[in-house]
Amino acid sequence: MILYFSATGNSKHVAKTAAAAVSQSLLSIEDAVRNGQNSFEDEVIGIVTPTYYGGLPANVESFLKNSSFKADYLFFLATYGMKTGGVDRFAAKALGREFDAAYSVKMPDTCTYYFDVTDQEKIRQTLKESENQIRTVISHVQNRDKGRFVQDSLPMWIAKPFHGMYEKGRRTSHLHVGSSCNGCGMCVKFCPAQAMEMESGGRPDWTHDQCIMCLRCLHECPQFAIQYDDKTSRHGQYVYPEESSGQNG
Ligand SMILES: Cc1cc2nc3c(=O)[nH]c(=O)nc-3n(C[C@H](O)[C@H](O)[C@H](O)COP(=O)(O)O)c2cc1C
Repeated sequence: MILYFSATGNSKHVAKTAAAAVSQSLLSIEDAVRNGQNSFEDEVIGIVTPTYYGGLPANVESFLKNSSFKADYLFFLATYGMKTGGVDRFAAKALGREFDAAYSVKMPDTCTYYFDVTDQEKIRQTLKESENQIRTVISHVQNRDKGRFVQDSLPMWIAKPFHGMYEKGRRTSHLHVGSSCNGCGMCVKFCPAQAMEMESGGRPDWTHDQCIMCLRCLHECPQFAIQYDDKTSRHGQYVYPEESSGQNG
């Protein structure tokens, strides 16, 4: 069984490809939480997630803290854009036990308040290289290899304060809706944290505590009307090809 969270499709693609290659079922963490599932038993269990601020998205951390896993081979895989920081170590801590193996796959970086995703050739190249990394992970999983195969990590004395910045970065006061919003409500419908609501004026708004700052709303908005401060409007939108909203849940 491969459990995954994915806001913009990178981790979903990796999880799907790995699940097919190692003949495992696929379940999104969003669906597991919706169904109240928190106990998992299988021969192989993999957990696939994006990296946020060198650690876990808040929803994945809480899922791992509140779930139990029984498997002969339990592995963790983080997708990331630049630095995995301490993501696998934070995951092991949330779980309360070590993984048999931890992996990473470098993908386009969806944190567009820092990075630009407008260069399509660069995106194409990154995705092409990611396929080799996915193949390597699959062969490790097929061999039931054990160990830490995570790239671009940071020592924990750097990863801890880095991840500490997540709390401030995920404040919804950073997010705003521009005048091009046509009130279609897709952002509200597909928010993985149910952190958004349609206001009486027909425009979306966020509920502070729940937002995990996955930026699915920003990347999937058909009008590109959702922005993070003044940092994202020139950096483009990104969703893994063929993994648009509605298919992510
Ligand atoms: C709020 C936020 C923080 C992120 N922080 C990091 C990070 O610390 N290191 C990194 O390499 N990538 C970071 N990323 C990029 C994602 O981990 C990466 O693009 C991932 O593949 C997205 O997966 P998804 O498409 O399945 O949601 C961040 C993305 C977001 C939205």
